[in-house]
Amino acid sequence: GKNAGILAMEIYFPPTCVQQEELEAHDGVSKGKYTIGLGQECMTFCTEVEDIISMSLTAVTSLLEKYEIDPKQIGRMEVGSETVLDKSKSIKTFLMQIFEECGNTDIEGVDSTNACYGGTAALFNCVNWMESSSWDGRYGLVICTDSAVYAEGPARPTGGAAAIAMLVGPDAPIVFENKFRGSHMAHAYDFYKPNLASAYPVVDGKLSQTCYLTALDSCYKRFCINYEKIQGKQFSLNEANFFAFHSPYNKLVQKSFARLFFNDFLRNASSVDEDAVGKLAPFSTLSKDESYQSRDLEKASQQAAKPLYDEKVQPTTLIPKQIGNTYTASLYTALASLIHNKHSSLVGNRVVMFSYGSGLTATMFSLKLNEGRHPFSLSNIGMAMNIAEKLKVRHEFPPGKFVETLELMENRYGDRDFVTSKDTSLLAPGTYYLTEVDSMYRRFYAKK
Ligand code: ACO
Repeated sequence: GKNAGILAMEIYFPPTCVQQEELEAHDGVSKGKYTIGLGQECMTFCTEVEDIISMSLTAVTSLLEKYEIDPKQIGRMEVGSETVLDKSKSIKTFLMQIFEECGNTDIEGVDSTNACYGGTAALFNCVNWMESSSWDGRYGLVICTDSAVYAEGPARPTGGAAAIAMLVGPDAPIVFENKFRGSHMAHAYDFYKPNLASAYPVVDGKLSQTCYLTALDSCYKRFCINYEKIQGKQFSLNEANFFAFHSPYNKLVQKSFARLFFNDFLRNASSVDEDAVGKLAPFSTLSKDESYQSRDLEKASQQAAKPLYDEKVQPTTLIPKQIGNTYTASLYTALASLIHNKHSSLVGNRVVMFSYGSGLTATMFSLKLNEGRHPFSLSNIGMAMNIAEKLKVRHEFPPGKFVETLELMENRYGDRDFVTSKDTSLLAPGTYYLTEVDSMYRRFYAKK
């Protein structure tokens, strides 16, 4: 498949959300902690009738319908997720229901798991398949689906929930520049889920921030080396039109871009003007470790990078700020925000993507945006995702009701032999929902 990449995207997130400002008051933290401190506006979550399987069933069905794709045309399906409902049976096999009905059981692929990186692994697998001798000419489908929930405490406002489905094929409007990549993978206990009786992770918040920024530095360094080897010129932030990041909360995205700007400063790159060089000069002698700890550097680099941030990052931040950290889907909700905001004006642009999964695995990679052919065009993808409308029709829960919902799910986690309320009053027509988990732990879904 030549120019293999993303042909189409669909995003689904639950219509239930809580305002971060109200959560601040409810949690008794200082005003502005979640909205300014973390940079988050709102957070979506699953109620007891939704989960990662129902969300992905909805996203896949909706994508196939909107783009009139015959399910028989799918030859590979890969799922990225870190939400565990079953330690053996893949999420992919639940999605096979859609394809079995149409007589297509000939679909390769299973799930990929490593924290928020699974979606990127799934996407790479799918594109690699398409570029290999085992490709049979059919489309690939990649699904990122997660429900991010945290125990009460400082991490709780960094939750979120969504599923993203991406159709992969040749001559795509969103093409991988496969040679421009940089990865960093290592062993760390920054965020992990060792307690199989709980949906909640064990998280060392501060360590996870440092791990994220260390991985970012390392990936950027390798990315630049690879770029320079092939292009014969220095890479700098000026060489890409946009940068999209895995977005647990917006403040970390601001810090990440500032960190790349600081890297450019250390490399004497052209993206850093004289004024900024002056502001960052006092930090040029810090050791690497010191540079992660320095609050002054953080502030100075965020300030110096601000004009470039507004131009190259801000258009990617809408959905992550509005729905929260969606783990494997997070980076792709940033890409979806960009397409929603800029659609056809993106033709010819380069977007650098940074994927991070705790534990840890990270890759920086590059996308080139083309016109594409209808219905697989940037403007059609933007229109079909219908993001403004989906955000608008959400239903706000007061924080107390949000906490109650999480408590109910906490008690039900890993349980069997229950039926849900089957209350679909808040769901849009066509949304899948959980009806029952039987005595054999088998899960049943219906479509509104
Ligand atoms: N007004 C404005 N800003 C405020 C206010 C206020 N009233 N109060 C606090 N802040 C700021 C702080 O200064 C800080 O900002 P800074 O980092 O720029 O200094 C920010 O709010 C956060 O406050 P902290 O006290 O530093 O952190 P907290 O203990 O609340 O925890 C954390 C934040 C670590 C992000 C927590 O939410 C967490 O653990 N989240 C999950 C882990 C995570 O998402 N890690 C990211 C990568 S791994 C992954 O994706 C899962």
